[in-house]
Amino acid sequence: MRNIKSFKKMKKNGSKISMITAYDYSSGKITEEANIDCILVGDSLGMVVLGYENTLEVTLEDIIHHTKAVRRGAKDTFIISDMPYMSYHLSLNDTKANASKLIIEGKANAVKLEGGTKSRLEAISAIVDCEIPVVAHLGLTPQSINKFGGYKVQGKTNDRFNKILDQALEIQKAGAFMLVLEGVPEKLGKEISEKLSIPTIGIGAGRYTDGQVLVWHDLLGLSEFDFKFSKKYKNLSLQIKNALENYDNDVKNKKFPTKENVYFPIEDEKTEQKI
Ligand code: KIV
Repeated sequence: MRNIKSFKKMKKNGSKISMITAYDYSSGKITEEANIDCILVGDSLGMVVLGYENTLEVTLEDIIHHTKAVRRGAKDTFIISDMPYMSYHLSLNDTKANASKLIIEGKANAVKLEGGTKSRLEAISAIVDCEIPVVAHLGLTPQSINKFGGYKVQGKTNDRFNKILDQALEIQKAGAFMLVLEGVPEKLGKEISEKLSIPTIGIGAGRYTDGQVLVWHDLLGLSEFDFKFSKKYKNLSLQIKNALENYDNDVKNKKFPTKENVYFPIEDEKTEQKI
């Protein structure tokens, strides 16, 4: 299993880091079999798994539940669990207790939280002080959509560009071991990646971050979204729909089950039959 030291080494050697979101046993298992470097149990699960409009309704219990399932499928992969909205905003004691639940109950290796303001830096330090590795997240942070007025690329003006750059440097000082950069100009992704010694993972942050992360459903064509920054490696929605239509057709036309799918009485009770 990779760890925070091996991620740092990968950055140093110029080896790109692959990260993918996963939300259940089978996605965890396939991800591990595909040798992806790390898994994010993202709060994007609120949208792609639970059908919410945004990520704000996701609870700590939701993330623990899904992290446990992913861990059962991916025993040897580094897992990062998202801290949901309001699970690290109220007090440092709450923040530490919530982060530790993701580690102890969910069996994650690290937690991720969004933002780079003073209180977020304090949260990062407090969690790191509990021996929990922290991934920070800057740029288009989805938990701030109401403040941003929607999903908008961040850091486009000089002021905002420099603000995010400063926050990235502060995040590193606060003790985060990795930084996710979402929805920012490529130039900002590049500059931050060059200035930081911790690895940066981009999603819509251009070609020069130290690694990339994609959402499971976007990569596999299971979501209705078609983002410029993403890449659909398969169109599974279509393939699944075709399979279901074929099944429906077979049932209605008595083509399933066939003789191969049924059990027969046997003479000798000890004879095993394949389930
Ligand atoms: O929740 C999530 O999936 C994320 C990624 C998009 C980085 O935060």
